[in-house]
Amino acid sequence: MRIVGMMSGTSADGIDAALCEIDGAPPKLQVRMIRALARPYPQPMRQRILDACRPETGRVDSLCRLNVDLAEAFASVALEVIAAAGLTPDQVDLIASHGQTVWHQVEADGHVSATFQIGEGAVIAERTGITTINNFRARDVAAGGHGAPLVSYADWILLRHPEHWRAVQNIGGIGNVTFLPPLTDSSSAPLAFDTGPGNVLIDAVVALLTGGAQTYDRDGQMARQGRADAAWLEALLRHPYYERRPPKTTGRELFTSDMAQSLLADGQARGLGPNDIVATMTALTAHTIADAYRRFAPAAIGEAVLAGGGSRNPTLVGMIASLLAPAPVLTHEALGIDSDFKEAMIFALLAHETWHNRPGSLPALTGASHPVVMGQITPGRNFPRLTGRA
Ligand SMILES: Nc1ncnc2c1ncn2[C@@H]1O[C@H](COP(=O)(O)OP(=O)(O)O)[C@@H](O)[C@H]1O
Ligand SMILES: [Mg+2]
Repeated sequence: MRIVGMMSGTSADGIDAALCEIDGAPPKLQVRMIRALARPYPQPMRQRILDACRPETGRVDSLCRLNVDLAEAFASVALEVIAAAGLTPDQVDLIASHGQTVWHQVEADGHVSATFQIGEGAVIAERTGITTINNFRARDVAAGGHGAPLVSYADWILLRHPEHWRAVQNIGGIGNVTFLPPLTDSSSAPLAFDTGPGNVLIDAVVALLTGGAQTYDRDGQMARQGRADAAWLEALLRHPYYERRPPKTTGRELFTSDMAQSLLADGQARGLGPNDIVATMTALTAHTIADAYRRFAPAAIGEAVLAGGGSRNPTLVGMIASLLAPAPVLTHEALGIDSDFKEAMIFALLAHETWHNRPGSLPALTGASHPVVMGQITPGRNFPRLTGRA
């Protein structure tokens, strides 16, 4: 099937779209990316998303409109990637849209009671004519799971190493890891959870420090010129989230831009300059990842494979590599997968599985009581052809 997968993550930096050709069934699922593109949000749209993610600034009327306006943006990016591939919408079978998470409700005992992704499927199906699957996380949450990390199921299908345990680490707004047993090991289960902040705190302090002129630490330049403050870092690592046992997930609800305000004040009170503050935030992400491996990896890791925007930050990657040494740290390119579009591609894969009435999750990964077939299907004009009921 030809499927457009689309993702907008907690960074709220923009929409990633990947048009993929997907065939077969697990464990022999074949995925080929035909064309991919990323469209950053214009600043006002990004601000509307960030406002929607905070109870202090989110409003139901704004949320209601954003649900539709974001879907319009998703629909046009879908049409754009299809055109860029030299195809027409009637040559595409499905659209898979993760949408934008605005809230992920983690209760005090760590279980997830609700999660909310917006970007109305009806609008996407209406504008493109293509049958659309969205709202992937809700069913897993309904089955008692965290609704996350969803990418891990595809890691399990696609990325197990023949002989050694592999850590597949995404560094988006939040960091998440999947520990995968080797193919030779048929008895061990994979394990996945959110490691903590990925880029979210780095981005937020950079935005504050530059008065909004920069939204992230491009190529890790600020962090590279600064020095992480050891005492402050140690204090930050005492956040209770890091010790909590997996399965566990988090989001902007715990690691917020408000947190960045007070972090900045802390750093300044410690007499640190802007680069040192950014370096400390970068070290926090690196240490939380390495600590999570030490605490929770089911076995010694043969290698770590990074994806997501954080894998484009050489200062962050360098810190992670030195903390995980001697285990090598690679990016997904080493496995023939584009790091930037991995998540978009994987939502295409999950939609493919949903269409074939197969689950897209494992209880070991999300904590649900059973594997679930995920998402909601909105029929497009191609629905009769897809179902053979033309
Ligand atoms: N060249 C780069 N240098 C440093 N950081 C980068 C670079 N490219 C991307 N990033 C970081 O990656 C983030 C976006 O990552 P992404 O994987 O899209 O996250 P999400 O899934 O949360 O949207 C940006 O906000 C930025 O922090
Ligand atoms: Mg993104």
